[in-house]
Amino acid sequence: MNNLIQSTMEFVRSELENEGSGHDWWHIFRVTKTARRIAEKEGADLLICTMAALLHDLADEKLNETEEAGVKRVTDWLDQIKVTGNQREQILTIIQSISFKGGHGPTLNSLEAKVVQDADRLDAIGAIGIARCFTYAGSKGNIIHDPETIPREGMSLEEYRKRDGTAINHFYEKLLRLKDLMKTNTGYEMAKQRHQFMEHYLEEFFDEWSSIK
Ligand code: ADP
Ligand code: NI
Repeated sequence: MNNLIQSTMEFVRSELENEGSGHDWWHIFRVTKTARRIAEKEGADLLICTMAALLHDLADEKLNETEEAGVKRVTDWLDQIKVTGNQREQILTIIQSISFKGGHGPTLNSLEAKVVQDADRLDAIGAIGIARCFTYAGSKGNIIHDPETIPREGMSLEEYRKRDGTAINHFYEKLLRLKDLMKTNTGYEMAKQRHQFMEHYLEEFFDEWSSIK
């Protein structure tokens, strides 16, 4: 394996080994593998996609005190290894555009950015996505489900979605929307089955819930 990739894997693994909100090393591992698979199918630059996938969550706002601190974690690493100035910029642009949810990151325009974002989003859906959703909610002290947040008659979807908090709510707020937000055909094809599984899971969940009287 390429030395750059090998040493970056070891670095990220040591940084995120014990992360407890679903952004642990195995999330990074899955996203990297998926990004490589999509990159090969879509004809994207494999090294850039791999490096950006490996580093994508180190700069995440949720895992750092400030955005600047997160970016510094990545730039410090990129300064230590042998990437060209051009590769450094490409990797950083991808990470910044997918990490910052506030909309002030650069827009996602390169094929490589689309590939890494699709891979990251695929890990948020399906059976693994369901596991991560509950892990994240638990790590924040949120509960599984509150039946009083089910959309009530007369309540708009918009109003319902604003009621943040439970893990189940997060499916409606975000996870069920991800399939249609896929940016590559390969990502979209992979998302279909995972999406279907989440819908089935929610059906079962609500069936069980309503059978409890
Ligand atoms: P990523 O870090 O992979 O770019 P996010 O930071 O949005 O994506 O989410 C990381 C994981 O945490 C996802 O699996 C997502 O479902 C979960 N997550 C994020 N916010 C919530 C929430 N409010 N409730 C439950 N799970 C959440
Ligand atoms: Ni991620």
